[in-house]
Amino acid sequence: MGSKRAMLGNGLGEALNGMVGRHKRFIDLFTGSASVAWHVAERYRIETWAFDLQRYSAVLAGAVIQRDSAADPVELWNDWLRPATSRFDAFGALAPSDIDASFVKEARNWSNQFDKSSLVYAYAGHYYSPVQAAWIQALRDTVPASSPEREICLAALVIAASKCAASPGHTAQPFQPTDTALKYLQISWHRDLCADVQAALGQITPLHAQVAGEAHVGDANQIALQLRPGDLAFIDPPYSAVQYSRFYHVLEAIAAGVTSPVFGVGRYPPLNERPSSRYSQKTTSLPAIKELLASLAQRDVSAIITFPDHECSNGIDASMIKSAASKLFKVKTQSVTSVFSTLGGPASKKHGPRLARLSADEMILCLEPK
Ligand SMILES: C[S@@+](CC[C@H](N)C(=O)[O-])C[C@H]1O[C@@H](n2cnc3c(N)ncnc32)[C@H](O)[C@@H]1O
Repeated sequence: MGSKRAMLGNGLGEALNGMVGRHKRFIDLFTGSASVAWHVAERYRIETWAFDLQRYSAVLAGAVIQRDSAADPVELWNDWLRPATSRFDAFGALAPSDIDASFVKEARNWSNQFDKSSLVYAYAGHYYSPVQAAWIQALRDTVPASSPEREICLAALVIAASKCAASPGHTAQPFQPTDTALKYLQISWHRDLCADVQAALGQITPLHAQVAGEAHVGDANQIALQLRPGDLAFIDPPYSAVQYSRFYHVLEAIAAGVTSPVFGVGRYPPLNERPSSRYSQKTTSLPAIKELLASLAQRDVSAIITFPDHECSNGIDASMIKSAASKLFKVKTQSVTSVFSTLGGPASKKHGPRLARLSADEMILCLEPK
């Protein structure tokens, strides 16, 4: 998952520290892996809200920012495991002694017996082994019904599923059992999904907000229309011309618990069911950010924006954002070196297209109402 986590210790943490205390609410408009929403909610007595077009992002954010006390990971796991185990057993998942091309074929045949809307049909034999996919479905079907247990367990499942996915970084396409990729598929399929879920519960449960906030699926530009003076918006929009939903569709389906019938090697749901962002299209990204800035300025909302300082594949760079923002806000700028994900898109001539992470300068813009 792409994340601002590293930058929190490299300039962004200081920028937040300088501004959060003077505001009443912190609003992460493009929360992604929720690293910034978690950071602020945990450290400051400020109500933190988080939004994203993607459901799995709202799940991750909600698991921490909607709670103001710690939870017990062992009790959570034991209560969840009981119903999940009988559900898992009912799948009769194939467990191999050897993971080779013929087992991958067998796994795909096995998954075909299940309902086309199920996660087992969609992903067993592709992103996950039959055992992993059966656990994902069993655990998803039995997540606790009440809050905050529900949000914590869902987030732990998303984190574990992200770790186990047999794909290069993001879930754009699974590894195939070829001479070169089989070893990567084997490493992923050998992972113990339940151990990863327990580890994620151990990571999430001690974290909590100082003041409980909320996380929702939402479009940043729509949410901005509901903000008010005293709000501090955090803006970390897409910089790629490839839609995020191309890379996170598996986590989206796990967050939802079901999927529409999938197709192609990538096991995608139909295009019209995947969230689509104006920020990930070259012709609409700049108008979208300008519209967002205008809405925030009209409502006397402050903001912190992070963006790479070179032109990105969606056609914008930090200086374009800065020049639009300067007409509406008092702007302070800081430049930091960070590592960011290319989402597998065109990286650089030097490193080739498959490099998933790049080191580059990124700008932090701090905006205050004029
Ligand atoms: C660069 S990532 C954010 C990363 C995040 N700050 C983190 O630390 O993980 C951009 C995010 O914006 C989301 N997104 C794209 N367009 C959006 C929109 N119009 N409204 C809300 N979220 C959007 C994407 O789904 C993606 O999760």
